[in-house]
Amino acid sequence: MKHESVLLEEVIESLKLKKNSIVVDATLGLGGHSKAILNEIPQGFLYCFEQDSQIIEEAKNKLKKFSNYEIINQNFVLIVDELKNRNIQTVDAILFDLGVSSPQLDNAERGFSYQQDGPLDMRMNPQNEKTAACIINNYSESELVNILFKYGEEKYARSIVKNIIKKREKQQIKTTGELKTIIQESVPMKYRREKHPARKTFQAIRIAVNDELLVLEKALKKSLELLNKEGRLAVITFHSLEDRICQKIFKQVSQIDSNLKKLPFIPESKKPKFKIIGKIRPSKVEILNNNRSRSATLRIVERI
Ligand SMILES: C[S@@+](CC[C@H](N)C(=O)[O-])C[C@H]1O[C@@H](n2cnc3c(N)ncnc32)[C@H](O)[C@@H]1O
Repeated sequence: MKHESVLLEEVIESLKLKKNSIVVDATLGLGGHSKAILNEIPQGFLYCFEQDSQIIEEAKNKLKKFSNYEIINQNFVLIVDELKNRNIQTVDAILFDLGVSSPQLDNAERGFSYQQDGPLDMRMNPQNEKTAACIINNYSESELVNILFKYGEEKYARSIVKNIIKKREKQQIKTTGELKTIIQESVPMKYRREKHPARKTFQAIRIAVNDELLVLEKALKKSLELLNKEGRLAVITFHSLEDRICQKIFKQVSQIDSNLKKLPFIPESKKPKFKIIGKIRPSKVEILNNNRSRSATLRIVERI
């Protein structure tokens, strides 16, 4: 699959970069957004986070003409700690482009895709211990149902999990192909004709393997505290669960506490520190050219 950075122009415009801006790309991936950011900040510096060491080599190639950047092979939840280690207390712009990158999806061995048969892995950081196989073969029935409902909003969670349990009692479930077959056999024919029936379960297990929602919530809160005055944070989400977290946090930090609204004046210390700049969806042309962008939403917030 050809890799295209989603909402590229919109991201660059939204971040309001200056030539000497200090920027964080929290999700380097193949470096498409990073490259475009580096073009805008010849006297600035870019810190790129990427938890997948296998992808970093590919990204380096894309960024080889630049020297004003550093790749940090860490989870973005460590954003504040890693920047502190480099004596950086504040930055001018931060980007999160969530989810997996195309090399992760395309490589069957990584186990992210129900389109190809591979080991049930799904770890974005191959050094982590917990794989999709650990979850599928060891979690209790109620834990699995909970994951499928909560992280996949999968209405057939109960029957899928029943069949997972039945199967694993005989032998361990080891591959994405086996899981896909179990899902297909657990849902009604009508559901099979809609979007791929394995889509939601795979999303749910991936979120659980990588602890994606908890990590995102923590990282967004920490990142906001890093922003300079007029600094901007932009987040591209790909499903409603991520988007809801982003929306909730942006709302919290940009609104006045409802109890204070009754006061004749709002003390300076209680005024919101951020304002919401907006929400952007990909154009029809982008969706036509890059199907992955169809579910993307870009949200932007600015430190006042
Ligand atoms: C959608 S891709 C980014 C694509 C990139 N913006 C580009 O233009 O090429 C998301 C990347 O973020 C990485 N990632 C996801 N969650 C992460 C986390 N918590 N910490 C660090 N990297 C993460 C994934 O490994 C993946 O490579």
